[in-house]
Amino acid sequence: MNPNPTPALSSTATTTAAAAAAAAPAPAPPPPTTTTTTTTTTTNTHPPLRYVRYDGAREDEYVPAMRQLISKDLSEPYSIYVYRYFLYQWGDLCFMAMDDSQQQRMVGVVVSKLEPHRGGPLRGYIAMLAVKEEYRGRGIATKLARMAIDAMIERDADEIVLETEITNTAAIKLYERLGFLRSKRLHRYYLNGNSAYRLVLYLKEGVGSMRTTLDPYGAAEMTGALAAPEPALLHENGSGGGW
Ligand SMILES: CC(C)(COP(=O)(O)OP(=O)(O)OC[C@H]1O[C@@H](n2cnc3c(N)ncnc32)[C@H](O)[C@@H]1OP(=O)(O)O)[C@@H](O)C(=O)NCCC(=O)NCCS
Repeated sequence: MNPNPTPALSSTATTTAAAAAAAAPAPAPPPPTTTTTTTTTTTNTHPPLRYVRYDGAREDEYVPAMRQLISKDLSEPYSIYVYRYFLYQWGDLCFMAMDDSQQQRMVGVVVSKLEPHRGGPLRGYIAMLAVKEEYRGRGIATKLARMAIDAMIERDADEIVLETEITNTAAIKLYERLGFLRSKRLHRYYLNGNSAYRLVLYLKEGVGSMRTTLDPYGAAEMTGALAAPEPALLHENGSGGGW
């Protein structure tokens, strides 16, 4: 499948020539006329996608497809326990894009969680976001991220955070367009040595300055060097996918 097909341009030219058989001594016929009609149609060649929320009753179908999709961009796949950690507790914050015309229907996924952060704000966390390579650049990740954000807003989230590799320009651009701000740079955040940005989306007035009661680092957290990464279990396998 071509992810960025050039819109089909169908051009129809209809020529009607009026050839008059002039029979002398009839009066001279009018000059031949040519009528040209051009029709331009833009055809969307992408099959429509279906966006669905994760359903625990279909775990056996969804989780293997999700793992296959996400592991494509990782040096090592996440263990099944990582998926279960998120999906068993926050399955309602996971959304998938399906292309029913394909055998491997899942073409995009976002996995998130939401919980109080150190006694402070109710913090959402986007843990994984991936779109199948040949489907990229069509707004699928933007739509999935928006669905997760909306679901967190419905559940009264104060802020949403995530980390992404500093070289992942597609992800950074995508999130910044959704309103996320760079809050810190996490030096050598991934076990493969790559650094990350922590991005944050504040959903309520004053959340950025909200104090957390259980934060052992206090103000030092903003330096980045002492920052405790979000769920460490995500990096247990040394992957540097930028999740
Ligand atoms: C990052 C990723 C999820 C984007 O998926 P996508 O469906 O292509 O994203 P969208 O089509 O919604 O693109 C949204 C915006 O991202 C930016 N973007 C997307 N692909 C880009 C690319 N290759 N280079 C630069 N910017 C890009 C663009 O600004 C785009 O909007 P625009 O085309 O209207 O300007 C996808 O590339 C992917 O799965 N990457 C591997 C996994 C990953 O890195 N996940 C993110 C971890 S935080």
